Amino acid sequence: MSAKPTALQDLPVDLDKERLPEHVAVIMDGNGRWAKSHSLPRVMGHQKGVDTLKDLLRCCRDWGIPALTVYAFSTENWGRPIEEVRFLMTLFERVLRRELSDMMKEGVCIRFIGNLSSLSPSLQEEIMRSIKDTENNTGIQFTVATNYGGREEITQACKSIAAKVQQGLIQLDEINEITIEDHLYTKGLPSPDLLIRTSGEMRLSNFLLWQLAYAEIYVTSTLWPDFDRSQFHKALVSYQSRDRRYGKL
Ligand code: IPE
Ligand code: IPE
Ligand code: MG
Repeated sequence: MSAKPTALQDLPVDLDKERLPEHVAVIMDGNGRWAKSHSLPRVMGHQKGVDTLKDLLRCCRDWGIPALTVYAFSTENWGRPIEEVRFLMTLFERVLRRELSDMMKEGVCIRFIGNLSSLSPSLQEEIMRSIKDTENNTGIQFTVATNYGGREEITQACKSIAAKVQQGLIQLDEINEITIEDHLYTKGLPSPDLLIRTSGEMRLSNFLLWQLAYAEIYVTSTLWPDFDRSQFHKALVSYQSRDRRYGKL
């Protein structure tokens, strides 16, 4: 039987606070299907998904999970109808502007991973502002993958390492896994311990290909807008039941 939290902020009693993931990554999927199931236009699912994300961020803070990374827009998502892409970009900008003061109050430190240079100048401006304003906050580390692709990330890392070799700044023999990690967008962030994907799809869709090497994967058929604290609780219970062997016995 799953235990009920004594208060909304409290960690549910069946979770061991010593064994919580340090870093949770989420593929927030199923917004379109959620909207369809409510006879709404797809974009209303994205709109609703923002509320879900806000509550998950608060929940991580309440339950003592120090880092959350979410997939907001993939390098492949440009292939969607232009109206949907435009809606998403405007939504990101609006939400960032609106939520900045709450993020400050709650001590959120936000960062972005992905190729930000091809986003609109006004969105880039909002992104830069939120990074700068929150950089000294000591609460949850919140990372948003925007125009992010794991293959693109690894490719740009290879290019910058190759350029350094060419310039004689590093020797070929010195390149190791730490060198690669230091050239990824996620530099300085620990690898996720738990990956959650909503809407039942069992694939990575080009998300954190390097960083998820040893993440525990939790897939739920719940659509992203319906992923609430009780769903997150279930994911954490599942995570705590796993035996992380890392190839050993
Ligand atoms: C995830 O929901 C949000 C983004 C990819 C931006 P989808 O829009 O992929 O929703 P489905 O998968 O079509 O239901
Ligand atoms: C992954 O979802 C990207 C985000 C959640 C931002 P998609 O809906 O784009 O993935 P596929 O197309 O089902 O693989
Ligand atoms: Mg999808």
